[in-house]
This record gives sequence, structure tokens and C-alpha cells, in this order.
Amino acid sequence: MSTNSTAEGMTEGIDDKGRRRFLIAATTVVGAVGVGFTAVPFILSMQPSAKTQAAGAPVEVDISKIEPGQRLTVEWRGKPIWIVRRTQENLQELESLNALLRDPNSEAIQQPKYAQNATRSLKPEYLVVIGICTHLGCSPSFVKKDDPQAASIREGWKGGFFCPCHGSLFDLAGRVYQGVPAPLNLVVPPYTYLSETKIMVGVDHKEGAA
Ligand code: FES
Repeated sequence: MSTNSTAEGMTEGIDDKGRRRFLIAATTVVGAVGVGFTAVPFILSMQPSAKTQAAGAPVEVDISKIEPGQRLTVEWRGKPIWIVRRTQENLQELESLNALLRDPNSEAIQQPKYAQNATRSLKPEYLVVIGICTHLGCSPSFVKKDDPQAASIREGWKGGFFCPCHGSLFDLAGRVYQGVPAPLNLVVPPYTYLSETKIMVGVDHKEGAA
């Protein structure tokens, strides 16, 4: 169900041109024969192409194979979606970072209401975020605290995301550190649990869902 953003963008551009040409032609015909047919081209122009629909379609993800401490990347609407399975240790360490972060309580609207909590998630074990830096849009690297480069990222690094473009840092809840160029926490997309081992990205969670 994944899509290629570049290919989609190009296709939509071509579709738009074709649609514009069609509407100009249709308008000319309407001008000649009267207003009785105006509804037809309008309705056609409102119908999204199959590719446009596919590009925005929700993505179902099996999270059962993600090991503790690992990250899975999928694509939704041409964007990387990261799903990180956090360990208990990771979750405990999140609290110790609050004083170092720009928006530790996620007050800026960068997540749905149901993810505006201490772990920015529906279930603390799994973080779901859009993997795009909120500075200028690079895709940060996932750096665990025991990775070789961790020491050069920051003293006492507890794991998280490092954007090499201009040095922004985010913790394992996607919260941005103070003193870096990125102004905001990473965005949490709409998502919901279909079961214990499956999530759907692109659909908002409703109370009472799995
Ligand atoms: S784009 Fe990430 S730090 Fe600039």
C-alpha cells in the first residue's frame, strides 16, 4: 500500500493539467448550449483519480515483528512513518529529559489529542511519528543510546533522533531538544489500533477502539 511521492506528484500534475483543459473545453460548450449542463463537468472535476485516492489511503501495519528498541519505517502519503517499540528503560528515561526539551508536554498541536500525553502515543510501548524534521524537512537518523555515534551526538544521550542537516535532536517521544534549529516536536499522524499487533495509519483513533 505504500506509494512513491515523486511519481504521485508528477501524476497529479498531469491529471490537473488534463482536468483544467477539460474544464476549459466544458465551459466553452456550456457557454454555447446554456446552463443546463453545468453540473456534469463540475461533478467530474471533483472526483479524485484512483492514484490520488491511493496516495491518501490509510496504511495498515503489522507491528508484531518489531523487537524492543527497534524501529520500523513505512510510507503514508509519501512520508516516512516511524514506529518505534520502546523498552521500559526508554520510557523511564523520557521523564528525566523534560528539563532539556523545548515542549516537553507537547502543548503545540503536533499530535492528535489522544497522543497528547507523556509518551505522545496511544500505547506507551509504541511511538508512531512522521520521520520529517520540523526545521527544514530532512529525515533524521535513529540513534540508540548504545550506538557508536551516540557519544558524539550529546553527552548522556538516551536515544532518539538526530537530524544531520543542521543538528536538531529529538528524544524517543519525538520531542525536540532546546537550543537546536527545529522549533517543534515531530508530528504524530492520525492512527489507531486494529488489534494488539496491527495499527492503521491515516485513521483517527476513536474511544472504544482496540
Ligand atoms: S532540517 Fe533538520 S536540522 Fe535542519
